[in-house]
Amino acid sequence: MPVEIALPPTVKTILLTGAGGFVGRELVQLLLAKFPDVSLIATDVGVPPDYGINDENRLKCVAANLCDKEEVKQLFSGKRVQAVFALHGIMSGQSEADFELGYNVNVFSHMNVLSALAKHAESREKGEPLPVHVNVSSLAVYGGPKATPNSRVIPEDTPLQPETSYGVCKSVIELVTYDYTRKGFIDGRTVRLPTVCIRTGAPSSAASSLISGLVREPLQGIKTVCPIADSINDEAIEGMPIYVTRVKTVVENIARAVNVNAQDIEQKVGKTRCINLPGIKITTRDILQAVEKAGGKKAIDLIEFKRDPKVVAICETWAGDYDSSGPMGLGFAVDDTQQGYAQAVADFQETLKA
Ligand SMILES: NC(=O)c1ccc[n+]([C@@H]2O[C@H](COP(=O)([O-])OP(=O)(O)OC[C@H]3O[C@@H](n4cnc5c(N)ncnc54)[C@H](O)[C@@H]3O)[C@@H](O)[C@H]2O)c1
Repeated sequence: MPVEIALPPTVKTILLTGAGGFVGRELVQLLLAKFPDVSLIATDVGVPPDYGINDENRLKCVAANLCDKEEVKQLFSGKRVQAVFALHGIMSGQSEADFELGYNVNVFSHMNVLSALAKHAESREKGEPLPVHVNVSSLAVYGGPKATPNSRVIPEDTPLQPETSYGVCKSVIELVTYDYTRKGFIDGRTVRLPTVCIRTGAPSSAASSLISGLVREPLQGIKTVCPIADSINDEAIEGMPIYVTRVKTVVENIARAVNVNAQDIEQKVGKTRCINLPGIKITTRDILQAVEKAGGKKAIDLIEFKRDPKVVAICETWAGDYDSSGPMGLGFAVDDTQQGYAQAVADFQETLKA
C-alpha cells in the first residue's frame, strides 16, 4: 500500500537537518517533488545539494554546524518555520570511537535545535499551531535480553536498554523531544528507523554499514568484507537476523510522520510518541542470495568472510524483528515481505544505472 503523505495545512516552510546525508538527500527530493508550494531550508555541515534549484524560496541550502548555538539561531532568523525534520547525526561506529563527538552532535546539537525551535515558536501568530518536530532516531535504543537477534520486540514489553553510545544519545533526545512536547513548546514526535539499505556512496561509520556493503561493493566489482562470519557456511549467516527497510519506504514513512495526528500517535504507541518504523526481518543468507541473483557468482567471490568481534558484538545487540502493528495502524508502510531484500537490491541497481 502506498504511504499517504501530506502536510498540515499551516506548514509553509520546513527546516531539514542532515540534508546532505544519505537519508536527508532522499527526503529533500521527496518533499520537493510532493510539495511544490512549500519552502525548504536544507542544512548540513557543508552546503547540501541544490538539485539545480536556484530559487531560495523553494530550496535554501545552508551550511551550519549545529553544535554552534549561534549558527542554529541563524537558521530560524529568516522565514517562519512550521516543521522540522531533524536527521543530522554521527553514526554508531564513529560515536563509539569518538565519545565526545557523538555526544556533541547526537545530544547537544539536537538540544540546540529544539531550544531554538521552541524560542521561534514563542513569536508565532496568535492561533497558529505549534511547529511540528520530527526527531529521527534509531531502533538502536533497544538492547538487553529482550532485544537480541532472535527476539521479536514487543514495544510495550521491552525496556529501552541501549548498548552503544549512539543508542544512548538517541534515547536521550527522544525523551527531550517528548519533554518539549509535554511542556507545550513544540509538537514533537520521534521515528525510529530500522537499518536503511542499500546505502549509496561511501561506506558509513554505522556498524550496520556491513548490510549495505555486502551489496554495494560487489555489484560494482569491488571487494568487500563480511565481518560477521568466517566463511559462507558460518552459522551466523543464518543465525543473526537483522531488521531492515528500503530507502524509498523509510523516506516516505519519515515524511508521513509530520502529519499524523498527535493523539492517534499517543493512542497507538504511547505518550512519548516514539514510532518504530516498520521493517522486514532478513538474514545475511537472504542478502547473499539477492547479491548472487543480481551479480552472479563473481559478485559473491568478491566477498571476504572475516569475523570482526567488535562488529559482531554490536550486531548481537540488534533485535532481529519487531512487532510494528501500532505504527502500521498509523498508516506507516512496510516493504514487500515476499520480495524481501531483493527489492532493496533492485533499487540500488537502478541508482547505478542513473
Ligand atoms: N541510515 C540508517 O540505516 C539509519 C538507521 C537508523 C537511524 N538513522 C538515523 O537517520 C538519520 C539520517 O541518517 P543517515 O544515514 O542519512 O546519516 P548520514 O551520516 O548519511 O547523515 C548525517 C548527516 O548529519 C550531518 N552532521 C553531522 N554532524 C553535524 C553537525 N555538527 N552539524 C550539522 N550537521 C551535521 C553529517 O554531515 C551528515 O550529512 C540519523 O539521525 C541516523 O541516526 C539512520
